[in-house]
Amino acid sequence: MIEHNVKASRSEPIIVAEDLTMAFGDNVIQRDLTFTINRGDVFIVMGASGCGKSTLMKNLIGLQRPAKGNVFYGDTNFWDIDDTEKQRVLRRIGVMYQGGALWSSMTLAENIMLIIQEYLAIDTDQALELASLKLALVGLAGFEQYYPSEISGGMKKRASIARAMALDPEILFLDEPSGGLDPISARMLDDLILQLKSSLGTTVVVITHELASIFTIGNNSVFLDTETKTMIASGNPKKLLEECDNPTVRRFLTRGAAEPLIKTIDLS
Ligand SMILES: Nc1ncnc2c1ncn2[C@@H]1O[C@H](COP(=O)(O)OP(=O)(O)OP(=O)(O)O)[C@@H](O)[C@H]1O
Ligand SMILES: [Mg+2]
Repeated sequence: MIEHNVKASRSEPIIVAEDLTMAFGDNVIQRDLTFTINRGDVFIVMGASGCGKSTLMKNLIGLQRPAKGNVFYGDTNFWDIDDTEKQRVLRRIGVMYQGGALWSSMTLAENIMLIIQEYLAIDTDQALELASLKLALVGLAGFEQYYPSEISGGMKKRASIARAMALDPEILFLDEPSGGLDPISARMLDDLILQLKSSLGTTVVVITHELASIFTIGNNSVFLDTETKTMIASGNPKKLLEECDNPTVRRFLTRGAAEPLIKTIDLS
């Protein structure tokens, strides 16, 4: 049941989820999800912890077959095609998993080169050059030979994004990119995402419950509700804040500002 839908301004669908139900065995996590991610969107998947955001990403990127419904990449019905065609679709996407750590025994450059050399027939020098370009893209030029343990949390997130960008993806999936970061580092990451979108035209799907990010970078979204186990809003988050009257969505987008979530404790 979609209670509120604010239309996004762009109109070239790049991913369409149609009547999607996601489940683990008999345990339905979300049902009846229908939404469109358009080319050039920064599309936010939002909702409370445990509502099924990461599970939705797995259904979209081929890691988990939906219990019901379809995922279209353009005209291609992803879960209907053979493995070779699936690989062709997956080659167009880059993924940063939730808590997705870099390989700690490898330098930043090696982390990226491993992916590049798996897919592209190029020698080590060329791969290093490409890896350096990716690191420069996320503001980490000169850090090629550093190990993950030698850089800050924000830098690790950026290096993970560089790794997800290794093969120049058309669509980038980021699961909780700013989780655990201080507000300034989180803000820098938001700026980076907007920069990737505007300079490379990458469509970015961001899973997050960070309000500041949602409003700063998102132009389209879907809101997954834990209680009803379905989407209860979609569209531009800023417009949802202005116009959506679903109480769960409002509480989430205003951090429950209108009502006390717990009773004030009298310390006197
Ligand atoms: N492999 C699995 N097997 C069984 N249940 C799972 C599995 N992975 C996730 N779940 C369940 O699916 C539900 C949604 O999990 P998911 O990780 O998608 O939530 P989320 O919205 O990403 O949460 P968070 O914001 O905390 O990352 C949870 O109840 C979780 O326990
Ligand atoms: Mg998650």
